[in-house]
Amino acid sequence: MRILLLGADGQVGHELRGPLSTFADVTAAGRGTDLGDLDALQRTLGDAAPQVIVNAAAYTDVDGAEREPGRAYRVNAEAVAVLGEWARAHGAGLVHLSTDFVFDGTLERAYREDDATGPVNVYGRSKLEGERALSALDAPALVVRTAWVWSLRRKSFVSAMLRLARERPRLAVVADQVGNPTFCRDLAVALALVLHRMGERAPEALREARGVYHLAGTGACTRYDLAAAAIALDPKRAEHVVETIAPIATHEYPLPAARPLRTELDCSRFHARFGVALPPWREALARALAG
Ligand SMILES: NC(=O)c1ccc[n+]([C@@H]2O[C@H](COP(=O)([O-])OP(=O)(O)OC[C@H]3O[C@@H](n4cnc5c(N)ncnc54)[C@H](OP(=O)(O)O)[C@@H]3O)[C@@H](O)[C@H]2O)c1
Repeated sequence: MRILLLGADGQVGHELRGPLSTFADVTAAGRGTDLGDLDALQRTLGDAAPQVIVNAAAYTDVDGAEREPGRAYRVNAEAVAVLGEWARAHGAGLVHLSTDFVFDGTLERAYREDDATGPVNVYGRSKLEGERALSALDAPALVVRTAWVWSLRRKSFVSAMLRLARERPRLAVVADQVGNPTFCRDLAVALALVLHRMGERAPEALREARGVYHLAGTGACTRYDLAAAAIALDPKRAEHVVETIAPIATHEYPLPAARPLRTELDCSRFHARFGVALPPWREALARALAG
C-alpha cells in the first residue's frame, strides 16, 4: 500500500512514521511540503500517487490563528479540500485529523459526532471548515476528531508543565477546562492499526466508512489534573522546584483565543466500527514518562 503522510514531523505525524512503515510504502512529507501552497500540494500528490493519504498536518497554533486567520484557513480548510478532491478523483482514501475545538464546550455530557458544532475561535472554525469541505465533496475520508494531544518530544501542554515545574516554585493551571488527554503515540498506533487491518482494500474501506469519528485518550480530566499528574509521575521529580500548583479559572489566564470549556469526546462510534479505543490517559502518561 502506498501512503502519503503529511505533517510527518508533528506530534502525531512523527509517531505515525514507524507503525505505517511496518506494512506500507510511506512517503513522509514534513514542513518541506507547504500545505499553504496548493499547487505544490497537487504536485506532491501527483508524485507520490498514494492509495491512502494520512493528513497529520495542520495549523495548530490556536492563539496564532487569531493573528493570521488566512494561513489557518488555507492549511486547515483549503488544503484539506484539495486532499479530498484528489482522493475522490484518484480512487484513494483519506484519513484526516480534526479537533474537539469544533465544539463550543457547553454540553454537559461527552460530545458525540452528530452533536451541534460551534467553534469559539479561529482555529476551531478553520478546522470545522476542513470537515465541511470533505463532507460537501462526499470525500472517501475518515475524519478523526481528537483532543488535547500531547508529546514529550515537542512543545505540548504536558512538556510545558514539566519544564515549568523545573523553573518555578508556583504554577497556576486552569481547572475549569475538561477534555481527553491524548498521547500522540497511542493515537498514531491506533490509526495505523486500523489501516493495517483494512489492508489493500483500504481505499474502498475508507470510502465505505467515510464520516466523522471521535478518537481520544480514555477518560476526561481538567488541565489542572493533567498538570498535577504529569508532575507527580515524572521520574525526574528530584529536579523540580515547584512547590504549589494552584487551580485557576480560564478567565484568570487570558489568551488571544477563547477556549471551549468542556469538550469531552464520546469515542464509542470509533470503537463500534473498528474495535479500537485508546488507553486511559493517566496510564499513557505513566508509560510515556517511565520512558
Ligand atoms: N495538538 C492538539 O492538542 C490537538 C487537539 C485536537 C486535534 N488536533 C489535530 O491533530 C492533528 C495533529 O496535530 P499535532 O498535535 O500533531 O500538531 P503539530 O505537532 O502542530 O503537527 C502539525 C504539523 O503540521 C505542520 N504544518 C503546519 N503548517 C503547515 C504547512 N503550511 N505546511 C505543511 N505542514 C504544516 C507543522 O509544522 P511545524 O513542525 O513547523 O510546526 C507540524 O509538523 C491536527 O489535525 C490537529 O488539528 C490536535
